[in-house]
Amino acid sequence: MRKRMRAVLANRGREAAPLPDTDSWPLGSPFRIGGVEIANRVIQAPLAGIANWAYRTQSRRHGAGATVSEMLASQGLIHDSRKTRDMLVVKPDEHPVGVQLFGADPEAMARAAREVEQAGADFVDINMGCPVKKICRTGAGAALLADPGGGARVVEAMTAAVDIPVTVKMRRGTTPATAQPTIAARRFVDAGAAAICFHPRAAAEEYDGLADHTITREVVDAVEVPVIASGDINDPATALEVMRSTGCQAVAVGRGALGNPWLFTALATGEIGDPPGPAEVISELERFAADACEALGEARACPYLRKFYPWYLAPLPVSKAELQAMLTAPTVDDALGAVRDLVASAA
Ligand SMILES: Cc1cc2nc3c(=O)[nH]c(=O)nc-3n(C[C@H](O)[C@H](O)[C@H](O)COP(=O)(O)O)c2cc1C
Repeated sequence: MRKRMRAVLANRGREAAPLPDTDSWPLGSPFRIGGVEIANRVIQAPLAGIANWAYRTQSRRHGAGATVSEMLASQGLIHDSRKTRDMLVVKPDEHPVGVQLFGADPEAMARAAREVEQAGADFVDINMGCPVKKICRTGAGAALLADPGGGARVVEAMTAAVDIPVTVKMRRGTTPATAQPTIAARRFVDAGAAAICFHPRAAAEEYDGLADHTITREVVDAVEVPVIASGDINDPATALEVMRSTGCQAVAVGRGALGNPWLFTALATGEIGDPPGPAEVISELERFAADACEALGEARACPYLRKFYPWYLAPLPVSKAELQAMLTAPTVDDALGAVRDLVASAA
């Protein structure tokens, strides 16, 4: 996965592909997931360890039509784990927002879905894509794709338990050889899924190669609910091409927006503006850091934010020693000071 993260970052700052002429920008129009109206076709993808309310709020400020949380353990919610409960916070100004759950037990997932609904989420999403062994060993995440009947029972139990839409985030399958994404997606929709967010790599492929959205097209053709395409959609031209070639209703953006929330605006409007200047980058980072400190407390926000500094600084020539100093700063203020110095010296 590190390899793919590097590849995404290496593309930063490269000139974006030119956009074809369009009368209106198709990603800027609203669509619906069940009864929930979403103002545009750009969704912030669920990201474990990243997409807390601070990150989601930032994505919204920059134009994401909807956001999705990091994945939350259904067992954690029903056993009242403090850590999982903290992850369930939904802020009044971040709608529409989905909260993603993982788990394999239909009854536990249904109970957890009720908690998600009570917390104020607009939809509840099921993780059927996580390739991590610890999760798959419990039958959850991508393991549900090896047993679509089991996945369908989870969807059914959750749709019976809540009034908000239940959505599924899935990969193509567990391995390329055994994958049957159209059959699985149809079963989930028959069981009540109101939308499918589709990442066309198999779990065994992790993040290898480029996402093959010809498979997304097969899924779009197989179901009658909105399909949201996920995977390597990092510029407006690619987003438009994926929408047109697959017939999907929307696109999801994961790694491309890490340290680059401006990508949401570009995708939602089709306008490729100038890259943000140093002052804008710093002020964005400061605002995000303040929210992260509120969401997590300073002690947890400090290591959380360390992931982000290299992403924000990716377009700048930063030496290893400078990066190291920033990443070992003991407080958020110290780290932000180091980032400010680096940006000023590179300007
Ligand atoms: C760090 C990281 C964390 C992720 N966490 C989740 C998750 O919690 N739930 C999920 O369904 N997908 C998760 N994904 C997958 C993304 O939502 C997305 O489908 C994938 O990264 C491909 O899209 P991208 O090329 O835009 O990043 C994660 C991906 C990354 C890189």
